[in-house]
Amino acid sequence: MLLLNELEALRTSIVGWRQSGEKIAFVPTMGNLHAGHLELVAEAQQHADRTVVSIFVNPMQFGEGEDFDAYPRTLDEDRLKLEGMGADLLFTPTAETIYPAGAGQQTRVEVPNISEILCGASRPGHFVGVATIVCKLLNMVQPDIAVFGEKDFQQLMVIRRMVTDLAIPIEIIGKATIREADGLAMSSRNGYLTAAERRQAPNLYKILQATASAINSGDKDYAGLEAEALKALKTVGFCPDYYVIRRAEDLSIPDNNEGPMVVLAAAYLGTTRLIDNLIAA
Ligand code: PAF
Repeated sequence: MLLLNELEALRTSIVGWRQSGEKIAFVPTMGNLHAGHLELVAEAQQHADRTVVSIFVNPMQFGEGEDFDAYPRTLDEDRLKLEGMGADLLFTPTAETIYPAGAGQQTRVEVPNISEILCGASRPGHFVGVATIVCKLLNMVQPDIAVFGEKDFQQLMVIRRMVTDLAIPIEIIGKATIREADGLAMSSRNGYLTAAERRQAPNLYKILQATASAINSGDKDYAGLEAEALKALKTVGFCPDYYVIRRAEDLSIPDNNEGPMVVLAAAYLGTTRLIDNLIAA
């Protein structure tokens, strides 16, 4: 596996593969890779001849007082995992390569509306940071396809919208959330949980399942279901940020109950903010 941190070297490798007619898949990450990330890599490998993974903890998507400094950086372990998977190239740019004039001087990509609700409302500027870095990395790697996890449901939607709006000729593939045996969605932030919080954490998924199963059985009192779930989250020790039932197609508030729904939640356990979601009927 090639390990590169310079843009020029990345482009040379990619051009070589392209000239040989090879199809290229890309998995952008912030590192601290777990089984969920490795599933994204496995998915990418099914669609292409060459798989590129990037690791970059993107300062632009972290707000003031968020966990940018604490975010786990485990490059040696990550590299070994990717080598074990047979990834072809790991791109680990520095902040200087990505933001030569500083993040504040970077041209930004803003996907309106969808970026301002839910996680975007709680984390102002977060999705501008995500859209900007993903746009930039897609331009650097120029893959045929790119794979993202559905755990970050709103992020995936922001990225799909950006790719459509900016006519970026790359297919975006969403991959189902990978969970621990007890249901907790895999996330690098799970590592912040204390032992006691880790035992409480799977309740988030249990509550999502209860809501989804009520919707699947025909319950259309969405406001009632949301209120019930918020109460249940608090009872098991979460401090909820939001818990909503939205149309899966565009995250709009359901009115005529049309189309599949998605139940989305963000909640704190101590200082750790967990997010998860589940599709319902
Ligand atoms: O989901 C993530 O890990 C990040 O938001 C991403 C897509 C790699 C952009 O920094």
